[in-house]
Amino acid sequence: MGSSKVSRSLVQELLSRVDIVDIISHYLTLKQSGRNFVALCPFHPEKTPSFVVSPEKQIFKCFGCGVGGNAITFVQQYENLSFYEAVKRVAEIAGVELPKEAFSEDDSSLEIEEAGLKAAKYFHSLFEKVEDYLSERGIDKKTAEKFLLGYAPVGYLKELKLKEEILLQLGLKSSKGREFFRERLMIPIFNHSGKVVAFAGRALKEGQEPKYINSPESALFKKNSILYGFYQSKEFILRERKAFIVEGYFDVISLYKLGIYGAVAPMGTSLTENHVRFLKRYTKSPVLVFDGDSAGQKATVRSTGILFKLGCEPLVVQLPDGEDPDSLARKRPELLQKLLESAVPFIEWAVATVKSLPVSRQPELLRQVALAISYLKNNNPFLFKEYLSRLSAEFGIDEVWFKSQLPRLKVEGDRDKDEEPIPLYEKAFLKTVLEGVNLPIEVSPNIFVSQKVAKLYTLIVQTREKDPAILQSLYPDVSSLISEILFIEVTEEELRRYVCRVLTKELKRRLKRVSDFSEKVKLKKLILELEKGNFEIVEQLQTIN
Ligand code: UTP
Ligand code: MN
Repeated sequence: MGSSKVSRSLVQELLSRVDIVDIISHYLTLKQSGRNFVALCPFHPEKTPSFVVSPEKQIFKCFGCGVGGNAITFVQQYENLSFYEAVKRVAEIAGVELPKEAFSEDDSSLEIEEAGLKAAKYFHSLFEKVEDYLSERGIDKKTAEKFLLGYAPVGYLKELKLKEEILLQLGLKSSKGREFFRERLMIPIFNHSGKVVAFAGRALKEGQEPKYINSPESALFKKNSILYGFYQSKEFILRERKAFIVEGYFDVISLYKLGIYGAVAPMGTSLTENHVRFLKRYTKSPVLVFDGDSAGQKATVRSTGILFKLGCEPLVVQLPDGEDPDSLARKRPELLQKLLESAVPFIEWAVATVKSLPVSRQPELLRQVALAISYLKNNNPFLFKEYLSRLSAEFGIDEVWFKSQLPRLKVEGDRDKDEEPIPLYEKAFLKTVLEGVNLPIEVSPNIFVSQKVAKLYTLIVQTREKDPAILQSLYPDVSSLISEILFIEVTEEELRRYVCRVLTKELKRRLKRVSDFSEKVKLKKLILELEKGNFEIVEQLQTIN
């Protein structure tokens, strides 16, 4: 991912030269509140601000959903960038010039991206091999150029003259050494910033199975977050704040051909939270245009649940049974245009769709609709109630029935609250470590009540890295926890007492395992002092082993 490729010193240098308040202000309106700044959290829906930025500590933390980090990790999450891209972006926003050599370490992803484009252009140069196929599907040369559609002939591996590892990374060569995409229509996958990071290949001949194959996941190609077609429509989506979510590659391409921009599609997976988190930066009301059949309807309901959960309110288009946007684009473009313009809020679509089913099949979809709606419960209770009573009125069903159908949902934005709370003394202990205090002994991670604390402590011990900014940058998993720890307000005095408490636990653990009498006596004496909160004694711990 390039994350470990950015050097430690570069991260430190960059973070020392930017102010987190400036960086976050670039995206959010921050309000001063005492020593800190607050804002509505961009990572979960909320009405009152629980997102806090500390200029002193140069970190942010959301006390609603738990996410936290530094300036770089904020930009990384907000813009869905790789760590490497986020470093560049932060420097750009702050107007800090970074040494050119700083990035030379990261040329592996650059090399793959260049190779991806080179391969896509090579396949595209053989466009005439797929010209007939595409024109039968109503795709002209101009559109094919926009998406760099092409053809993979027999023997393409030789022609490409790329490094073995790069061919593997891009999925052009299978792990068994074969030409993975042989004799297929080649669809390059552009990531959101326009780099070719993978390919899809569509069968061209009868009996060529499966219909589509995709490059495997790689550091640069994450299926659960890349949306196909986003890059080609980026300007449009940004300007119009409008996007269509469709199911397949050709839905995207055919709509584009018709001059309908803004269509994006997940690839070989259904819509994920990552897709939505990305897209909602541009629009909170994407339009779902799935296949007209019952599978498409189920997918619509399922996707809506995810959208509701993340604070979006989709519009929906119902296509005629048996059609997808691509097939309709060719057969009845005016009808498709009209349908897209008359997209309705999910609830309207749901009521109409359930009613269109035979009575025996209604309850199943209705239950799924209720489940989708239940995702509104936490971030939009008003709409949740309104939709429930609407369904009750339409279908003559008791609200109690719906409620009984709803599984106990996790409260979105409450991820951390579900877990065991972390004892304050454990946080304080780690805070001491992160502040660079050298403790004379290492403790066993097993003594911690909190698994998260144990994990972070182990990481620190293993990597010998104590700088919180570096840890946050290089290990995104622990980023939120570090912000949480740095945010605790305790006096020096309390901090020492807490450290003593953790060390007491460690010594008691050791006590159980020593057999030597004088060692035992020594440990017991130390424990007694530590239990009194005698911090001076900590230095003497060096004498034990
Ligand atoms: P569909 O089977 O609905 O195909 O798959 P489609 O988009 O209508 O394809 P055309 O029009 O026949 O060319 C929808 C999406 O599911 C993924 C692809 O991303 C496809 O666009 N898919 C489908 C696969 O990954 N593999 C497959 O074998 C089939
Ligand atoms: Mn299709």
